[in-house]
Amino acid sequence: MNPDELKKQVAQAAIDYIETGTIVGVGTGSTANYFIDALAGVKSRIDGTVASSVASAERLKSHGIRVLDLNEAGELSVYVDGADETNDYLQLIKGGGGALTREKIVAGASRKFICICDESKLVKVLGAFPLPIEVIPMARSFVARELVKMGAQPELRQGFTTDNGNIILDVKALEIMEPCKVESELNNIPGVVTVGLFANRPADVLLLGTARGVETRTAG
Ligand code: 5RP
Repeated sequence: MNPDELKKQVAQAAIDYIETGTIVGVGTGSTANYFIDALAGVKSRIDGTVASSVASAERLKSHGIRVLDLNEAGELSVYVDGADETNDYLQLIKGGGGALTREKIVAGASRKFICICDESKLVKVLGAFPLPIEVIPMARSFVARELVKMGAQPELRQGFTTDNGNIILDVKALEIMEPCKVESELNNIPGVVTVGLFANRPADVLLLGTARGVETRTAG
């Protein structure tokens, strides 16, 4: 199976977690796009969705799926999204598509977080994928210097502005042996909006696409 087939397979498997008559949180990226396409098949069963990016909202609307503002929606039943990396504890690196802040908000507002990805994303230690950090533009140089002091190598994502009007620093060479601690430390740098580490609030269920089929893993 090629990577796209693996993504489609997990996206379809996530439909089993959709509760009838609820509002569904929807992630961003190529795997989440397959989920949106699959969700179109059951749209009459749900009350609506909350999207984690403008791009996902557009795709949902193109399928005739209702998109609500999070402030109108209250608590969501489930959030479905991909990841750039996951470890065995379902702690994630996200933000390859730059939507990390809204993803973290919508995940936080959901009772259950279902992560969908292919097995290439499963790692023992997080951090081979450069960690995206969303930063207020005026704090760019300051935050970069703070990261360098920590031994990391931040790089500005060129020509990219987030849906919130901010910039992204992609951070290499960061030792992520203790993901919860690193997430909290980075969050404490003034000017950091969101760190693409989802460790303090990991996924609850991981649907991993493999050549042998979908593997279901739960946290802990
Ligand atoms: C977007 C994300 C995505 O979930 C992540 O980049 C994975 O994307 P894909 O499914 O295309 O591999 O965090 O901000």
